[in-house]
Amino acid sequence: MVDNKKILYLMVQEHKKVEDLIDLFEQSIDSEYEEMRQAFTKMEWKLEKHLFMEEKAIFTMYEPQDVKQGYDMLPTVTTHHNEILNRLSMMRRAIQNGQTPTEVHAFKTFLVRHRDFEERDLYPRLEDVLTQDQKDQIIERIHELI
Ligand SMILES: [Fe+2]
Ligand SMILES: [Fe+2]
Repeated sequence: MVDNKKILYLMVQEHKKVEDLIDLFEQSIDSEYEEMRQAFTKMEWKLEKHLFMEEKAIFTMYEPQDVKQGYDMLPTVTTHHNEILNRLSMMRRAIQNGQTPTEVHAFKTFLVRHRDFEERDLYPRLEDVLTQDQKDQIIERIHELI
């Protein structure tokens, strides 16, 4: 691992863990209700923690010099995150009503597209513009949360 890509590296690892839990949840759809509910809860907690980490521990540190270009990315991320949270709460409501959520596959597709955007555009850009001090602080915060 190249040291100046450490945040990207850590996030790629985290994205894999989130997606593994989504896979387990998707597989559990055909199982008993209680098993499916537990798989959802586990995935939901990990994913909500991930979004919190990105927004509160990572992106708040981003103070782009080229403000126009820099801030173009953050609204996109926020829009994606809100969409993810909305979809999560729709699934949670279905489960609370004793139903099996539909649209799980579409949810996964949306998430994978968002992950690609982060790993290809957002995190490489952050790695370029953050100072070493900022990166160190971010990495410390990430370790508190993962
Ligand atoms: Fe994200
Ligand atoms: Fe992410």
